[in-house]
Amino acid sequence: MKKKKILVTGGTGYIGSHTVVELQNAGYEVVIVDNLSNSNADVLEGITKITGTRPFFEKIDCNDLTALTALFKKHRHIDGIIHFAASKAVGESVQKPLLYYRNNLVSLMNLLELMPQFDVSGIVFSSSCTVYGEPDENPIDENAPIKPATSPYGNTKQINEEIIRDYVHSGAPIKSIILRYFNPIGAHSSAEIGELPIGVPQNLVPYITQTGIKVRKQLSVFGDDYDTPDGSCIRDFINVVDLAKAHVIAVERMLKNKTEEAVEIFNLGTGVGVSVLELIHVFEKVSGEKLNYKIVGRREGDIEKIWANPDKANNVLGWKAEESIEDTMESAWKWQLKLREKGIM
Ligand code: UD1
Repeated sequence: MKKKKILVTGGTGYIGSHTVVELQNAGYEVVIVDNLSNSNADVLEGITKITGTRPFFEKIDCNDLTALTALFKKHRHIDGIIHFAASKAVGESVQKPLLYYRNNLVSLMNLLELMPQFDVSGIVFSSSCTVYGEPDENPIDENAPIKPATSPYGNTKQINEEIIRDYVHSGAPIKSIILRYFNPIGAHSSAEIGELPIGVPQNLVPYITQTGIKVRKQLSVFGDDYDTPDGSCIRDFINVVDLAKAHVIAVERMLKNKTEEAVEIFNLGTGVGVSVLELIHVFEKVSGEKLNYKIVGRREGDIEKIWANPDKANNVLGWKAEESIEDTMESAWKWQLKLREKGIM
């Protein structure tokens, strides 16, 4: 049987690359589009080592409608799209709002516009639990209210969800699955791919592992005076490979016309909240390294506590986060050690 072809935008990025691996392992053909603004083409080697297959790669910016149109003409018969490509640094989005609105909105609109022209009927969209803002209660499910965004980045996720809904509502012949990620962390167990932020990491886990390996002097823990048991913020840290697997299930659901609504939304999380300090201690346990950290003031715009109610994804998709937090932190550390071995970091 002919392999189904999936276009993965942002496929050399962190979540994208792990998803490409799972798609190829599940027998899909993958075309990656990435402008390499926050990733490196070397990721393709890692993907090839793990799966034995090199995905097609096109260095294209999804905001470039002409280039994107040419891509759809070149790679005929794309069956579905997973759209990861986006800028994602919360702080930077406050400094450069127009860049964020342009990058994150235009790229989705371009894809949506091209889908009917090239008979592509389904798109999986990368959204975020940031759309919920500070939850009134935890765990939080998909019916919780959407709160005003605290950053342009968060706003782009909310607006993108609305763009998809409005487009489908207008009668466009497409369907979509919106996945709201909680906090993806860790790396592939082979340590061939993982998270590699360019410059100083903004997110917690790469900062922890880079401090562990002494690329960074000290981790700042942003606040220990929150209303949580140990005073630090609480998140739902989800293993990136578990997360990637959910995309394969979502794509299959779309392609087999099993969706119950034209737009479906799923939380992807573990259902368990872990504090920043707890995560640091897990890291110390699995790495055997004492982490140099200090408590500093709160980071503006941070949410105090949020974790998922993943029942809908568990029951409807038949997907469940499986990896333990220990194994996940160990995979992140193994990846960091591999970067050192290769002289990258
Ligand atoms: C943020 C966004 C999320 C986005 C993600 C991608 C919000 C509320 N959340 O997640 O939507 O998808 O970034 O980049 O906009 N921390 C430290 N020290 C550090 C770094 C982080 O203590 O050096 C703490 C933070 O205060 C936070 C937790 O670790 O409590 C997690 O932070 P981070 O990894 O940046 O993720 P979020 O802010 O949860």
